[in-house]
Amino acid sequence: MPLVRLCAASDVPVGEARRFETPDGPVAVVNLGEAGFRAVGAICSHAHYFLDEGEVDVDEETIECPKHGSTFDLNTGRPRTLPATLPVPAYQVKLENDDVMIEVDE
Ligand code: FES
Repeated sequence: MPLVRLCAASDVPVGEARRFETPDGPVAVVNLGEAGFRAVGAICSHAHYFLDEGEVDVDEETIECPKHGSTFDLNTGRPRTLPATLPVPAYQVKLENDDVMIEVDE
């Protein structure tokens, strides 16, 4: 699977998320500090809102949808709380030098 560079590590502050366009659609990159980076599909599975605009919980490794409050597991993409019931894509993150990259299907 091809690697896509999303950003520099320094583009995403600890405890925050940023959205980047990829061949797979918009992806939210999250900086969990010592736990590293995560990347999930940026569009909530419940309605068309951007997860990267929601709150990151560094300890729980989740992000909360800003619209209706579903929290998504940043490791699996699965919602932990309603109203969302479907997962968002979760990507394998590779950090090389200062580059944050994910694997995407072609
Ligand atoms: S749009 Fe995300 S929980 Fe409703």
